[in-house]
Amino acid sequence: MKTVDNFNFAGKKAVVRVDLNVPLNEDLTVRDYTRINAVVPTVQKIVKDGGSAILMSHMGRPKDGFEDKFSLKHIVADLSEKLGIDVKFGGDCIGAEADEMAANLQAGEVMLLDNLRFYKEEKKGDEAFAQKLASRGDVWVMDAFGTAHRAHASTAVIAKFVADKVAGYTMGREIEASRKILEEGEKPVTAIMGGAKVSDKILIIEKMIDVCDNIIVGGGMAYTFFKAMGGTIGSSLCEEDKLELALSLIEKAKAKGVKMLLPVDSLANTGFSNDGVCIEVDNMAIPDGHMGLDIGPKAAVEFADVVKASKTVLWNGPMGVSEFDNFAKGTVAIANAVAEATEAGAFSLIGGGDSAAAVNTLGFGDRVSYISTGGGAMLEMMEGKVLPGIAALED
Ligand code: 3PG
Ligand code: MG
Repeated sequence: MKTVDNFNFAGKKAVVRVDLNVPLNEDLTVRDYTRINAVVPTVQKIVKDGGSAILMSHMGRPKDGFEDKFSLKHIVADLSEKLGIDVKFGGDCIGAEADEMAANLQAGEVMLLDNLRFYKEEKKGDEAFAQKLASRGDVWVMDAFGTAHRAHASTAVIAKFVADKVAGYTMGREIEASRKILEEGEKPVTAIMGGAKVSDKILIIEKMIDVCDNIIVGGGMAYTFFKAMGGTIGSSLCEEDKLELALSLIEKAKAKGVKMLLPVDSLANTGFSNDGVCIEVDNMAIPDGHMGLDIGPKAAVEFADVVKASKTVLWNGPMGVSEFDNFAKGTVAIANAVAEATEAGAFSLIGGGDSAAAVNTLGFGDRVSYISTGGGAMLEMMEGKVLPGIAALED
């Protein structure tokens, strides 16, 4: 795979797919800069070489055509500031204004097209649309790791229509980070799996059984395991149709000699809320009318000890409803343990999406090895799947 490091952009126009699908506040200001920051090194390399960059991205999931709240115009100022370059806004991604701006783009200049998903052709992987995007540049740079699991026009199909294709720095860092877990993980390797649903994490847990020494299961999905083991879980989250599956995952781990740790206790509440009566409960016997919203203090200590003794850690999914202060303690305890392990020399990779947001808001962002820019993409990568956006760079 060719990377930006072995490509000279002097005098070239680069069509760069980035993932600027960033969370916005209600007033349309940027809430998290991770993905904007991730764009910077690749664009700076292009410009430093004496090239110019035509950036393109999606934002959210617009239904049918232009919608102001999904316009990338809202992030132009922040992007310009992070890059230290005045980014020109090209508007409609296949419009005449963008054509003209691209045609006149000078060395050192950067422009941004508006949301690719304002056209259905993007998600459909339409060839004519991909060719149109490709036609404005000399080389396609793929740096949208967060969208590399989509076989869309700008993330994969476009590769057919360009003379040169190269991977950006974010792609390189993400591929390297996942390799450190999947192929080169120094033992003990521990995966921490959280989040609401077992069904979202089946494939990754199965893969982790092949790779890890320990698998820690927390978050809402843990209750499906307790129910499957014959526990009473009150009104906690449960996927009734995944009980067999939960038992089979426990069996598979046992057969491979992998330690699967479930939280012995929970903090439970009478409803899905930060307020109310919060009690510590044994996860095999949660009283009626109570739902577990966080791992309990015993589980937090047990999990933290395992994490601190690990040399390689993958974390995907919070331990509880960490956006509620009263139920963030378990996630904080794990974040602390991951930070301590990292400071003692372990490699730690935090999956994107909810886990990245939790680690950042809780203030542990600087104390882990790498925070992925990908949510779904990171999961699929860890499941061992070939991502279309990476495959497109390879052939
Ligand atoms: C993401 O945030 O998951 C990526 O930007 C991809 O977006 P999508 O899930 O809407 O395809
Ligand atoms: Mg997604």
